[in-house]
Amino acid sequence: MAQETELEEVIAAVKGSRKYGDTSEETIRMLAVEALRQHKRPKAAIKAVRKRLHSIMAPYLGDPDYEDAAAALDAAFAAGDDAKIKEICLAALESHLSTRERLPIMEAFYQHIFQLTGRPKRLLDIACALNPMAFTWMGLTDSVEYYAYDIHEPRIDFLNHYFQLQGLLPLARLQDVALAPPQETADVALFLKEMPRFERNYPGSGRDLLINLPVRYLVVSFPTISTHGGRSLVNRYRQFFAELVAGQSWPVEELMFDGEMVFIADKS
Ligand SMILES: C[S@@+](CC[C@H](N)C(=O)[O-])C[C@H]1O[C@@H](n2cnc3c(N)ncnc32)[C@H](O)[C@@H]1O
Repeated sequence: MAQETELEEVIAAVKGSRKYGDTSEETIRMLAVEALRQHKRPKAAIKAVRKRLHSIMAPYLGDPDYEDAAAALDAAFAAGDDAKIKEICLAALESHLSTRERLPIMEAFYQHIFQLTGRPKRLLDIACALNPMAFTWMGLTDSVEYYAYDIHEPRIDFLNHYFQLQGLLPLARLQDVALAPPQETADVALFLKEMPRFERNYPGSGRDLLINLPVRYLVVSFPTISTHGGRSLVNRYRQFFAELVAGQSWPVEELMFDGEMVFIADKS
């Protein structure tokens, strides 16, 4: 009983915090259970959960003002102003480091990837952050079933808002893929620029995730240059990906873009 009270205390404290309150409660609960195994005092457990969330949520990568961006999209779609819609999508992509870095290559990026995989009818975007806002530059039609997974509540609400305005099904999901890996079958799964953090946060889970995803093509990308210091990460991540898929007989293609390298594994 006392343990249950402490668990709820830790969850409430983190959920009530300004910095991490946007995180899925399921994720916070899992981390709180783990933290209370290691720390007797709730205060120490709260600190431990916050520390892990710093690495998992990476809030330092940036966010737009979701309410303002949603209202701006409403107005632009109501006016049928395509240029304005694109401008708002670009501003959202710009607000998060991963997509900001991809902007200069964004159109070529999806063109080359889908040339190899074929245009997906069903696409999974795992640990998506704001990447689905690049939909217009992906060369897909609005009949695509675009599943997007993240653990940040306002981000998922915003993505579904945009999907509906754009004529897509609202398939963005608040789902912790470390706790509940996607079960949807699909043509292509994107797992972009998150694998190093994912393996650090949930050691050993990255390989299992890739093996268990019921998709034809896995598209896994890595930055080629470190954020701090500008060191090349090409050899390190090429080796890392080879280790992740070691023992699988999947043919793998490598694509190199300015700032991002992509591995496409054919699981068929
Ligand atoms: C670096 S960003 C990903 C960027 C995006 N894939 C891209 O390349 O544009 C990492 C995202 O992963 C999400 N994330 C981290 N762990 C997750 C998990 N276990 N399940 C679902 N999403 C997760 C975070 O909330 C964050 O939005």
